Amino acid sequence: MNIFITGIAGFLGSSLAHHLKKNKYNISGNDNFIGGYEDNLSNDFKFYNIDCCDFQSMQRALEKTDVLIHCAATAYEGLSVFSPSFVTKNIFEASVSTFSAAISNNVKKIIYCSSMARYGSQNYPFTEDMKTKPQDPYGIAKVATEEVLRNLSEIHDFDWTILVPHNIVGPRQKYDDPYRNVMSIFLNRMLLNKPAIIYGDGSQKRCFSYVDDCIYCIEEAIHNIESSKEIINIGPDEEFISINELADKCSNVTNFNGQHIYYEDRPQEVKFATCSSNKARKILNYKTRFSLDESISLTYDYIKKRGAREFDYNINLEIKNKKTPQTWKKKII
Ligand SMILES: NC(=O)c1ccc[n+]([C@@H]2O[C@H](COP(=O)([O-])OP(=O)(O)OC[C@H]3O[C@@H](n4cnc5c(N)ncnc54)[C@H](O)[C@@H]3O)[C@@H](O)[C@H]2O)c1
Repeated sequence: MNIFITGIAGFLGSSLAHHLKKNKYNISGNDNFIGGYEDNLSNDFKFYNIDCCDFQSMQRALEKTDVLIHCAATAYEGLSVFSPSFVTKNIFEASVSTFSAAISNNVKKIIYCSSMARYGSQNYPFTEDMKTKPQDPYGIAKVATEEVLRNLSEIHDFDWTILVPHNIVGPRQKYDDPYRNVMSIFLNRMLLNKPAIIYGDGSQKRCFSYVDDCIYCIEEAIHNIESSKEIINIGPDEEFISINELADKCSNVTNFNGQHIYYEDRPQEVKFATCSSNKARKILNYKTRFSLDESISLTYDYIKKRGAREFDYNINLEIKNKKTPQTWKKKII
């Protein structure tokens, strides 16, 4: 089976590619290196250095693809209210171009990695039957992409599954990006002997998913007939913790003693966000295999081995005003 993974140099895309290759799938994929790391790639899979927005190149690259797994995105939820043009272009336009290229090649199935940002600030845990209520351009672009995918499937003959991950962590995640990936940022900073930077009072709560727990669901969705045309939350819903508690855990793992630093909360940040995994348990036979403590330790081992790094401000802030976090304007992280 030929599988094409977009965003294959990124965290989820590359982790998935390495895993599926071991299970004997033919893997190819593309990336434009807005994010990701070059050393996430491997000679075991075919790589195209193509932007998803480049429809014609994508159409050629996707020839003979059976299943498209669309992971490429500028997954910058907090940043999306300050760089909305950049973030939404690489989600909405990039996705529509990719879907069109895949459908024109008669792809059998498209698996789309959406985001819990689709739910916004509703009562938690979020369940798939809730109305979508995104509250930032990132979430809005993700939901619009889901709608285009479903709309095209009503006309053209292909199957789809929309998977909804939330706060994935683990090796291969970019840890020197100041705009996202809170756990990796904490660990990298502590390895650089700098304290955790927290927005607001740190009482906002999240669940964190070890990457292998998500990959298991994505692989299952390739064949699982019950996942056909379904939206499914993936990742654990068991350990719902505050950002303060997360920072404490990271301090313990890294043996860092400094006090956390607090900055003003970020506009539009959802306070309590966690998804129910009951549908994944039922349809994808999902079980959480990695605890939060294990996830932190494995992520820490990766960053330590690869080497802690100063943060790379490679994305322009389109809107700089009094609402823009100081941490980004003044490059404090
Ligand atoms: N990591 C999480 O916590 C999380 C949570 C929910 C949803 N997701 C979704 O999962 C997917 C993967 O996320 P990730 O954490 O691996 O992000 P990532 O940034 O590590 O990987 C995304 C990759 O896509 C590439 N990319 C971006 N725009 C592109 C374009 N126009 N053309 C080609 N390549 C492009 C980037 O260079 C990057 O390597 C995304 O769709 C994201 O929205 C991630």
